[in-house]
Amino acid sequence: MDKPKKLLVLTGGGDCPGLNAVIRGIAKRARKEKDWDVYGSKEAFNGVFADPPELIKLTRSKTAGIHVKGGTILKTTNKGNPINFPQKQPDGTIKFVDRSEELVKRIKELGFDAVINIGGDGSQKISQALFKKGLNIIGVPKTIDNDLSSTDMTFGFQTAVQIATDSFDKLVTTAESHDRVMIMEVMGRDAGWIALHTAIAGGAEICLIPEIPYNIHKIVKRINSRYKNGHGFVNIVISEGAKPKDGIIVATKGSAGSEHVRLGGVAYQLSQQLKDAGCKAEIRETVLGHVQRGGSPTAFDRVLATLFGVKAMELLLEGKFGRMVALKNNSIASVTLEEATEKYNFVSKDGELVKAAKGLGISFGD
Ligand code: F6P
Repeated sequence: MDKPKKLLVLTGGGDCPGLNAVIRGIAKRARKEKDWDVYGSKEAFNGVFADPPELIKLTRSKTAGIHVKGGTILKTTNKGNPINFPQKQPDGTIKFVDRSEELVKRIKELGFDAVINIGGDGSQKISQALFKKGLNIIGVPKTIDNDLSSTDMTFGFQTAVQIATDSFDKLVTTAESHDRVMIMEVMGRDAGWIALHTAIAGGAEICLIPEIPYNIHKIVKRINSRYKNGHGFVNIVISEGAKPKDGIIVATKGSAGSEHVRLGGVAYQLSQQLKDAGCKAEIRETVLGHVQRGGSPTAFDRVLATLFGVKAMELLLEGKFGRMVALKNNSIASVTLEEATEKYNFVSKDGELVKAAKGLGISFGD
């Protein structure tokens, strides 16, 4: 029998419920072929850079039953971009260097015939750059933020919305008991999909998202009208990346080696702004944070992630490299990595969902 071919799988960027289901989908589909061995690189491409390389053979026992588990058995990082790699200098400072040529060379030297990169927008930009450098690579989109435009949905999003909605429901009953204004902050750096879906699913009065900068006085007006109408409580959902008109997003410096600022805390900023603008109601803030990214994926996300994994393996068998799997009109399709990364999936201010939310009386503060 010929030597089996070698596939390298990795997860990059923030984790997301469903990553393990993709890994299992790829491994199971590959096993049917008999001539493919599947390996995982630990912590995105860092496993390839490590000396000795940190690679895990994805045998049956390593992938059995993992579709139910949150996180990623391969571990992940957002400090491992090979094109902008954070390298510690002798004086302790960090310099960002391009290690992509070295990476492609190492992957080939390790005997890999193909790579499947499971990751968000940033990771797929990396896939595209590596493809251009001659790597046989296929992308699988992931993100709880649902901000990739070339797929109708990413896995992880449904799970995040479910977690946010469950939390929102709990805040409604306590808001009602105390006649309070409750602010719940959810993830969503640049796109407000989680907030918008949660606001509709939970029945929020106010929804604040990055795409629609808010006017604080309009929000106070909406709160006051609720109290006047005999309803003594208000529930607000806000995306971490939401900002007031002419204002700035609450952000802190990312940890060493990270390419991004850290968001989180807009709920407290909004609370103060409401008080400053004359809101008399009692206000409480909840920042959901990483709870939205943890735990077991919903059944929908398990199915989507598994189908993405199987499709990625099938694209590979057909030799269709430089592509990313995608959900398109209810079927599992693929797009070029170039197309996959050229546009960002923002919530449209005039879109169907915002219109429907407004029709329900949800205020966006605009
Ligand atoms: O991109 C997904 C995301 O969940 C964002 O919504 C959030 O700002 C970010 O990840 C948080 O990343 P980290 O885990 O590095 O804090």
